[in-house]
Amino acid sequence: MVNNIPVEKAKTSKIHNVDFDNLAFGTTYTDHMLVSDFNDGEWSAPKIIPYQPVTLEPSSKIFHYGQSIFEGLKAYKDEQGSVWLFRPMENFKRLNKSAKRLAIPELPESHFIDGLTALLRLEQDWVPQNPGSSLYVRPFMFASGTGFHASPADKYKFIIALAPSGAYFSGKVKVLIEEKYSRAANGGVGYAKAGGNYAGQFYPTQLAAEKGYQQVIWTDDNNHEFIEEAGAMNVFVRINDTLITAPTNDRILDGITRKSILDIAKDEGIDTEVRKVSVKEVVDAAKNGSLKEMFGAGTAAVVSPIAAFGYKDVDYELPELGDSYASKLKKRITDIQYNRAEDKFGWRY
Ligand code: COI
Repeated sequence: MVNNIPVEKAKTSKIHNVDFDNLAFGTTYTDHMLVSDFNDGEWSAPKIIPYQPVTLEPSSKIFHYGQSIFEGLKAYKDEQGSVWLFRPMENFKRLNKSAKRLAIPELPESHFIDGLTALLRLEQDWVPQNPGSSLYVRPFMFASGTGFHASPADKYKFIIALAPSGAYFSGKVKVLIEEKYSRAANGGVGYAKAGGNYAGQFYPTQLAAEKGYQQVIWTDDNNHEFIEEAGAMNVFVRINDTLITAPTNDRILDGITRKSILDIAKDEGIDTEVRKVSVKEVVDAAKNGSLKEMFGAGTAAVVSPIAAFGYKDVDYELPELGDSYASKLKKRITDIQYNRAEDKFGWRY
């Protein structure tokens, strides 16, 4: 038992096979995972079991109707060896927002928070201490119930799996502003962390990758006129000294890093604006030199400076600033996450 959660221990640990100095993002998994099943109208008491395959019938609704949602957060180890989460209640609340939209039964808070705490107590040796590394936490829920009728399943699984991880992006990030495809529409599921939101991005992102871009910047589905988000991260632009990001809505993920960056920027005395940003405004600013920075913000991406963006077959390079907002804000947020600085917002857990 850890925190009253039953534990079935793995017979052997894989930890000694892991090269903690060379961690990729999300490709190595710890020895245990947390599971709970939704059956007969309720979520079972969570338990911790060895990390293992999940067995599903071919008729499980996840395969046919895509009822699948997830979250992403990180556990950070400080210099004293203590392990910290960053605003986990925000992930819990967003998981249930996504669940509601996908007609998946909502999860009790204790399954998420106490379950995650117990799992991390057990797996604390897996939290890397190397700079820039962390233990990526992936809670997810999907329809395990069966049937070809296009309706919500009657059974679901909730799992938390953990992956010691390094940086999400390697090298400079070049993005393409999308002119044809859309990620989300009004009234749709864009604000939810639904697996399908990501699946729908893969093909346009492959096309962009063929042209040398790592990410697509999604634009509104009406006229591709306004910048929305980049799929794996929210997007910020700095025009002159003002930091601007799009307001969240039906189509844009309510990023926890995004809102934390806005709070930190205000605290730093940076002029911030949450408003629609047109592609024209960004292109004009790039042309007249007032576009100083663009960066992405997300749990996996942290704060990732954008080196250049492409639009209508033209590439626009961003200047490399010594005192960029991106580096200042990244330092502030990671200092809180890794317990290197005072947490005046009360975000560490
Ligand atoms: C995260 O930042 O945690 C996400 O869920 C984005 C994902 C594409 C890695």
